[in-house]
Amino acid sequence: MRSSSSSSSAGGSAAGMRRRSDSVGGGRGDGGSDDLSRYSVATTTASSAPSDRSSASRGAAAFLDVFRSCFAPAEASLPETSFSDDFVSNPSQQLSQSLSSQGSTSGSTIESKRSAKSLYGPNKNSSEREIPGDRQFSLPEIQKATKNFSPNLKIGQGGSGTVYRGQLSDGTLVAVKRAKKNVYDKHMGHEFRNEIETLRCIEHLNLVRFHGFLEYGGEQLIIVEYVPNGNLREHLEGLNGKILEFSVRLEIAIDVAHAITYLHTYSDQPVIHRDIKSSNILLTNNCRAKVADFGFAKLAPTDATHVSTQVKGTAGYLDPEYLSTYQLTAKSDVYSFGVLLVELVTGRHPIEPKRHITERVTTKWAMEKFAKGDAILTLDPTLEATAATNLAVEKMYELALQCLARKKKNRPSMRRCAEILWSIRKDCRELVKATASLSEAAHMEQSRK
Ligand SMILES: Nc1ncnc2c1ncn2[C@@H]1O[C@H](COP(=O)(O)OP(=O)(O)O)[C@@H](O)[C@H]1O
Ligand SMILES: [Mg+2]
Repeated sequence: MRSSSSSSSAGGSAAGMRRRSDSVGGGRGDGGSDDLSRYSVATTTASSAPSDRSSASRGAAAFLDVFRSCFAPAEASLPETSFSDDFVSNPSQQLSQSLSSQGSTSGSTIESKRSAKSLYGPNKNSSEREIPGDRQFSLPEIQKATKNFSPNLKIGQGGSGTVYRGQLSDGTLVAVKRAKKNVYDKHMGHEFRNEIETLRCIEHLNLVRFHGFLEYGGEQLIIVEYVPNGNLREHLEGLNGKILEFSVRLEIAIDVAHAITYLHTYSDQPVIHRDIKSSNILLTNNCRAKVADFGFAKLAPTDATHVSTQVKGTAGYLDPEYLSTYQLTAKSDVYSFGVLLVELVTGRHPIEPKRHITERVTTKWAMEKFAKGDAILTLDPTLEATAATNLAVEKMYELALQCLARKKKNRPSMRRCAEILWSIRKDCRELVKATASLSEAAHMEQSRK
């Protein structure tokens, strides 16, 4: 929940810092909460220089094929998930002024920046494919879908509002994010509009799909696709009663890397998410990941290397260079992604206040163990340390170490992260195969004797 507490830890001149956390519960009855602080610090304006997006677009063709496949319906393009019998890998286990909605045709001040209409054609020509955010909603329709925002349908509680599950009259399941009504907090309205602006520019298999929004009186509602299987943090905590296998964690890392690569490089306008963390990663029934929560996202100018802006994000995931310079680049997401990699391996929160001082900052603890050759000791104790897991942990930490570099110039691009993760998956699968054929040969030899 958002609180008015503030701190100067993100910079002495910081103003308007706020604290918020994502927590979940209600409808799913899990009541888990994320006590990490999410910050917004008002600072300065933009600066410009040549973009790293233009260079990032070089050699994009090879990658485009991969990303094109991501426009396919989620469950239709599932890659093979497991690379070990142990790892398995059963993925299944795994409002404006009126009552009318404000899609791109609305009188809203939010303009559609999508250029994808030409790519997909108008709605009427693609009956099965709706343009993100184009759906028109009325308040009565959403009230009906959510049983008038029934507490029983509450699926999430974040700093910016409450999220409800709903079912539209055509049967579509949706998640409705109802912004907190706080007339004194201008940030809230800004976050709401920001999220809509961003959602309109994006469309990717590994990002929550935007249906539309509604603004009426004090109500601000964002309607997106419902992702049925909770968020990653809940899974890491075992709140759904199942262990998230390592191979599935690696697939989730790959999905998130795809999503952020798309945001940084291939979306209509480059987007910096600014709040990559486990509670903003939602899982489908097949444990495919979808990145959510664009309240803090920044549409980056195409002709600038960085934007000097408010520091926003969540403690523990925040890029230290951004925190000290206020200069935001795509590499801030890369830093957060490095934190997420460590989170996936260890299952721990980025900050664990109750642990011994040497283990409170999870990335520091894990990277120190890695440097001593003891990476495997940081593995989530609920997981088995097989040879493939061992290899994957070493390689994921090698990548995490690069992502966590103090200087952004030393961090890889998100696209490079995705490539490295693919190769980790490949190496692990090969190791599993080799181990399996070795033991089969040994078994046959044994039975011959
Ligand atoms: N589309 C969705 N489908 C299912 N659950 C969702 C969806 N969007 C959000 N949630 C749940 O609500 C929580 C808070 O949502 P989020 O968009 O992160 O809000 P906030 O900006 O307040 O953090 C998420 O962690 C998740 O558990
Ligand atoms: Mg959130």
